[in-house]
Amino acid sequence: METVLSGIRPTGRLHLGNYFGALRNFVRMQHQARCFFFIADYHSLTTHPDPKALHGNIRDVLSEYLAAGLDPSVATIYVQSDVPEVAELQLLLSMHAHVPELLRTASFKDKVSKLRGKSVEGEDAESGLAGISAGLLCYPVLMAADILQHRADKVPVGKDQEQHLEMTRFYARRFNSFYGVEYFKEPQAYNFGTELVKVPGLDGSGKMGKSEGNGLYLSDSDTDLRKKVMRAVSDSGPTEPNQPMAEPIANLFTLLRLVSAPDVVQHFTDAYNRCEIRYGDLKKQLAEDIIAVVAPIRERIEAIRADDAYLHRVTSEGAEKARASSAATLADVRGIMGIKRF
Ligand code: TYM
Repeated sequence: METVLSGIRPTGRLHLGNYFGALRNFVRMQHQARCFFFIADYHSLTTHPDPKALHGNIRDVLSEYLAAGLDPSVATIYVQSDVPEVAELQLLLSMHAHVPELLRTASFKDKVSKLRGKSVEGEDAESGLAGISAGLLCYPVLMAADILQHRADKVPVGKDQEQHLEMTRFYARRFNSFYGVEYFKEPQAYNFGTELVKVPGLDGSGKMGKSEGNGLYLSDSDTDLRKKVMRAVSDSGPTEPNQPMAEPIANLFTLLRLVSAPDVVQHFTDAYNRCEIRYGDLKKQLAEDIIAVVAPIRERIEAIRADDAYLHRVTSEGAEKARASSAATLADVRGIMGIKRF
């Protein structure tokens, strides 16, 4: 049986990008493989070290996992910091992670430029990095440790995580070749038979993101979802048949393809191509189809979130199973690297 692993950082409520890029696939995969799904709280500390907010944020993501249909009786659901073995594995892997490749990682450069308000290329790099933590720099090594500790085959993630998966494979290969072993497998980023998903925002450009302020959230009310969709950026409409779509319109169609039936997508595509489209109708339909996905999940979130005993049971059992799996890998890795007990 294949092993599947993925995680989400507890940095805010989950949006449709998290859902379609990751969580929906977690739910689909849980009956097909040995699955580990976790809440990446160590990772969230690289950008959001806020002790007052952390525990509540973990509770949010955990409740949303369960409300979306993750079943702790089939999948192992755990909090990353409940499995401290991963931190030791990161330490060991970091001996083979080279600083220049970490400095080149797109997500690192992106986060640094957001923190700094400017990009930090070339000459500027050293001074531009003042105050940037080693934790942020080593983010991809911790992510490799998350994945390799369970020797996962498949990692359901959105498109923005592709480079991290490449680095994980690279670290697995480097470890194997340095020690002359065939120990780690090379995990693949996964989405059911298709390209990895990038869910756009409705503000005209770019992806939907927690920090972009353009999220449609699993916890949003129907009214909020309708408002957000009706406010989506569009344009004055096509003037020639089969005209290429501007980015904001292409983004509306990307969302439509995720939530609506194929005949609905076809209907609006044809209307666009014939220059007969009314964006108001498209948005109304899109909002209702988003609500059909979100409402049943949202209705379960609050009850789960308030159930301390249930959340305690899920995370304790999850941690126990995850620790057993992780400890076995760690024992092998220590042995391969020459760490022995007296
Ligand atoms: P995070 O917390 O940023 O996002 C969680 C998941 O949601 C996906 N995602 C999207 N997918 C499509 N379109 C979007 N607009 C969109 N926004 C977010 C992400 O691709 C991701 O799958 N580094 C990870 C967390 C992590 C992890 C891991 C993942 C830590 N260790 C091990 C997999 C395996 C992250 O920051 O995801």
